[in-house]
Amino acid sequence: MYDLIVLGGGPGGYNAAERAAHAGLKTLVFEGRELGGVCLNEGCVPTKTLLYSAKIFDYTKHGEAYGVKCQGSSIDHAFVVNRKNKVVKQLTGGVAMQLKSAGAEVVREFAVIKGRDADGAFTVEAAGKEYKTARLLICTGSDAVVPPIDGLRESVANGFAMTNREILDMTTVPQNLTVIGGGVIGLEMASYFCSIGSNVTVVEMLDHIAGPTDGEISKILFKNYQKKGVNFILGAKVVSVKDGKVSYEKDGKVEAVSADKVLVSIGRRAHTQGVGLESIGVLTERGAIVTDECCRTSVPGVWAAGDVNGKSMLAHTAYREGEVAVANMLGKKEKVNYLSIPSVIYTNPEVASVGETSESVKAKGLDAKTVSVTLKYSGRYVAENEGGDGIVKLVIDKEHNTLLGVHMIGNYASEIIYGAAMMVEKQMRVDDVKKLVFPHPTVCEVIREAMFQA
Ligand code: NAI
Repeated sequence: MYDLIVLGGGPGGYNAAERAAHAGLKTLVFEGRELGGVCLNEGCVPTKTLLYSAKIFDYTKHGEAYGVKCQGSSIDHAFVVNRKNKVVKQLTGGVAMQLKSAGAEVVREFAVIKGRDADGAFTVEAAGKEYKTARLLICTGSDAVVPPIDGLRESVANGFAMTNREILDMTTVPQNLTVIGGGVIGLEMASYFCSIGSNVTVVEMLDHIAGPTDGEISKILFKNYQKKGVNFILGAKVVSVKDGKVSYEKDGKVEAVSADKVLVSIGRRAHTQGVGLESIGVLTERGAIVTDECCRTSVPGVWAAGDVNGKSMLAHTAYREGEVAVANMLGKKEKVNYLSIPSVIYTNPEVASVGETSESVKAKGLDAKTVSVTLKYSGRYVAENEGGDGIVKLVIDKEHNTLLGVHMIGNYASEIIYGAAMMVEKQMRVDDVKKLVFPHPTVCEVIREAMFQA
């Protein structure tokens, strides 16, 4: 009899299990694949490993503007993939160690919820064995969406098309790569393959890239990648993927682009099938588990964290949700503040955002003003970015003069955004941020400058 069984050993599950075991709960984690989930094995970490190699390669190709001449540099993609595998192995090994030292048990099997006894205990089955627990935490994550587009599923089966999982293990460099979907995964992979020499075409249904990203920042990112040579086809809905071609409908006409390989990155769907949710009546909506801000599901004693609730689909959200779930199990009333969760697109330049955008405040009818400031106010930015066009954008509540959102495009944005997230989380007033001292010379100083301009 366990105090807690966690289904899924990704960022939501492993972090929560560690916290729960530390707090004295007898905890068991089921993981059918590798510990670390999508994030460590086929998402955040592997892509950052690849992108770092691409960045170094880019420096060798474009160093002249900084007085660095490098001839004959090349990138060994198979080596990069191999190094990625080593990084992943090191980190997943670290997760196993952390769980062990916290005292949480791990069973490397897929588990299914079988039901609830009259005394309230849940039954979970894995590899023909039954386990009992007082509480359940469901962290089964998400899967890449592969919709029934003509020929797409067959193309994934025969290797012409790939999801984020397969593309990260491909050791050859496609001459022509077509990316379906100009969202986060599509852009990060387009960035990598463009840097290492593929001709990359991104086919995106919307009239802009990077989905809900601030419109001005999305345009700057678009221009940067157009300049690097990525071919964007916007306002185009893919209708078939077969015979070495991706066909799309644009302005009422069907056209096609040839490809050696295709990446499908058109979103992810919560993984709720085959988990046994129906056996205990856990409520789902559009395929995702319904949770409240304490991560409770519709069934008392059952919590859910991470992509499976379909809310934010970010590893760091999953960490926090797992922690909030465990805190509530232990009787502490904690909540997830979804409004101050930062997000990053690890392109070059990086994009980082937190809180409301100018578009979202308009849609919500909030009385807000925005101020957009060039990163050229930062001496460090000018020193390090020949021809850089990065900006910081603030969204400010007019009545209370508090920060509602901060958005940036420019390198280091990924490392800067947590500070802005704190300001948004704490609803800091612009006048109070102005009194803070930022280090000089840094790129983050522009946030302070923007406060004065506001
Ligand atoms: P996404 O939701 O970010 O982007 C999908 C894009 O595909 C959208 O722009 C959509 O308009 C487009 N699309 C949909 N159907 C289409 C069609 N038939 N033809 C053309 N375009 C079409 O999804 P993505 O990139 O697959 O990422 C999935 C999740 O993974 C995201 O929710 C993201 O949060 C997470 N992720 C986060 C990362 C990060 O934080 N840096 C990195 C990678 C993934």
